[in-house]
Formats: sequence, structure tokens, C-alpha cells
Amino acid sequence: MARLRPLSLLVSLLSLALVYSLYHQYSLPPSSPPLHPLPSDCPSRPDLNDILVILKTGVTESRAKVPIHLTTTLRCIPNYAIFSDFIEPLSPSLATHDVLSSLSPNLLATNPDFDLYRRVRDHGPAALTPADLNPDINTPIGKPNNPGWKLDKWKFLPMLERALAVKPDAKWYVFMEADTYLLWDNLLPWLRRFDSRKPWYLGNQMQIVDAIFAHGGSGFILSRPAMVKAMERWKLSADAWETAVAEHWAGDCMLGLLLEDSGVELTWSWPMVQIAPPGEMDYFSRGYEKRPWCHPAVSFHHMDERGIVELERFEREEGGKGKMILYRDVFLKMVRPFVQAVRQGWDNLAEGEGVPVKSFAACRGVCSREALCLQYAYNETAGECRTSKVLMLGRGAGDVASGWMTERIDAVADSLGECRTISWIG
Ligand SMILES: *[C@@H]1O[C@H](CO)[C@@H](O)[C@H](O)[C@H]1NC(C)=O
Repeated sequence: MARLRPLSLLVSLLSLALVYSLYHQYSLPPSSPPLHPLPSDCPSRPDLNDILVILKTGVTESRAKVPIHLTTTLRCIPNYAIFSDFIEPLSPSLATHDVLSSLSPNLLATNPDFDLYRRVRDHGPAALTPADLNPDINTPIGKPNNPGWKLDKWKFLPMLERALAVKPDAKWYVFMEADTYLLWDNLLPWLRRFDSRKPWYLGNQMQIVDAIFAHGGSGFILSRPAMVKAMERWKLSADAWETAVAEHWAGDCMLGLLLEDSGVELTWSWPMVQIAPPGEMDYFSRGYEKRPWCHPAVSFHHMDERGIVELERFEREEGGKGKMILYRDVFLKMVRPFVQAVRQGWDNLAEGEGVPVKSFAACRGVCSREALCLQYAYNETAGECRTSKVLMLGRGAGDVASGWMTERIDAVADSLGECRTISWIG
């Protein structure tokens, strides 16, 4: 019997070695210290120690749109960085990064997209012209007449390398823009459902031709292995990628193509992340067999300063109750109370084709005769009535009056129910 002992010793040594090697294969180096000290009243969210948040902006909007985030969305985030096209201080302790500086010198020196970049780099933001600051109208292919917008697509690929340099040991890299709002207490439990040691690319799915990618403004998330794979792939043929970006208009789409090329698949994350602000979202919608209603609200987009402040207050009041904020809750608290029979100086964005009618009351009549009509908007200048089966709160507009079929709306909301179970992607 005694002769068996060396064998069992060997077995236990082997299993010890196995456990040890597994441990080392999967463990990350210990977390680096936080990049930003947190105010003492911030809630404890240990997961954030392993997350880097990247807010992407540009010199044409940074001073107007980023500071509000420092006191709201980013206030209690220990690790974040502001990626831009110009280095400038946004607070006494915070400067933006120029993520374009690592692109090839020839591109930076000669490509017309970089005209604004060269001017501001050499002479500072004072060199911005009114044309640079023109907000431009958003078209199906973006804002081709806005120099800041044309520069923006170039940031997506070099952003990966810079983010890995800023915090090499993060498990997750969360990307947002200056008009994105993220609800951290919903994002963190969502991320916990995924194994961060695997490559993940989470975001609001969009399609351009046959490319599927995560929409930038809705916010998207990459795990560290996904970042590393994409960055290595990019480094293999950086020149070819620069040519490809030059020929395309959407930077988020190019990042999607790079990730696809790297073997990282997009996890279609709508409706957890949204492309619109709370007042312009369709809470009753259905897409890809899913409805927003019982999903936790993770992001909103096209947020202005006022919208950010309102949402932050809502989140503080509602989130404190130890209950996850679902899109249903956002609807009931931030939308439904403002849906009235009549709202003057307001456009609820009813999307139907305008029909000529004589009065607001006649417009209401048109809607009430259509069984599924939920809202209508009457343009007083044009004498035009738009109706819609899609409910939306909308926004202020001088010469438009809006109305909603509140009983029908409440019936739809009731039919969607109370969300006894929470829906998730992943
Ligand atoms: C209302 O109609 C007029 C005339 O067509 C147009 O100029 C105006 O922009 C419209 N208002 C809104 C808010 O769409």
C-alpha cells in the first residue's frame, strides 16, 4: 500500500499545477489606482474599478458639451478619459487627448478632412471659424458639410490603442459621446452577465450596406480581449485601414468592420441601448422580437444639457429605491405625465404625411377616426395635420400644437403589463 503514496502525491502535485496555471491564464494584473479621485458621496460600485469609460468628442463641441458630464454622468466614475482631436484643459485637473496624433503623418498633413485639425493644432480653438461651428443638418449620411463631423470618423480606430494605453488592465471599455447618457446602475449588472475574459462587442445594431456595427452615439462596450484583437488586427495593416476610413463616412461602421475582421461578433443590444432621448423614443415599439418595455434602461442619445440634468435627477430619485429602472419606468415617470389631450407650441413628431385640415379640432377628428392612431400634430402655419400610430413625447415647436389619445395610450401601456421579470440581452 505504501508504494501508492508517491503516485497520489504526483496526482495532487499535478492538479495543483493545473489550478495554478488556470489561475494565471485567466487572472489580470491587480487593478491600477483610479484615474480620478471620487467625491465622498458617490455610491460604492466596485465593478467600476475594472472599467474605463471613454467619452469621444471634438474641439468644435468639447467646451460646450463635455463639462456637464463631469458633474453628472462622469462624476462618480473612477476611470474615464476624454478623447478628442485636440489637447485642451476642460477642468483644472482634466485635459482631453488628441487621439488622431497617432495616424500616419502624411494623412495628417495632406488629407482635406484634417484641415480643421491642422488649423486648431497650430493656432488653438481661436482658429475655429463660424463654418466649423455650424451645427449642419443631419442627413442619412451624417453631416457632410460639418468639418468637425468629417474629422470624427477618424477617431474610432486609434481610440482602441489609446484606451488600452490609458488603462491596460480594464475588463471593459465603455464608449460614449458628448450627447450620450449612461445609467451606470443598469449597465454594471448587465455587464456582469458576460464573461469579460472573452471578446465582447455590445451595442445598438445598425446596418450600412452589408456591414453590421454598433451605433456610436448610443454607446457601445468592448471587453479587453475584443479591444486587443481589434488593435492587433489594425496594426497589421494600418495603411489599408486608413484608406478604407478615407472612403467611408461612418467611423463606427469602420470599427465594426475591423472587429468583424478580427473575429469579434456584435451582440445586438437594442433595446438595452437607445439612439434617442427619453422624449423621442418609441416605448411601445417592437423590433427583432423584442420590446424595450421590461428591459433595463442603459443608454439614451441626442441628450442636451437640460435632458442630462433631468435624467440624472430621475435616476437619483428612482434608482435609490433598490429597484432597477426599466424603460417602462422611464415612460411612466418622464413621458406619460407630459402626455396631455392638448399641448400648444409642441411637436410630438407625429410622422404621418401631412393632410390639410382647417383646425386643431379637425386634426383630432382625423386621429380619432383611425382605430390605431395614438397622436396627432397640427401645424398652424401650414394648416396641416399629421397623425401617428407611434407614441412620442416630442419637443417644443412654435407653430405646432400636439394632442394625444390618452385613453388609447393607457390601454396599450396596461396591455404591456408590469414587468414581473426583467428582460435582458445576454
Ligand atoms: C409648419 O409649417 C410651416 C410652413 O410649411 C413650416 O415652415 C414650419 O417649419 C412648420 N413647423 C414645424 C415645427 O414643422
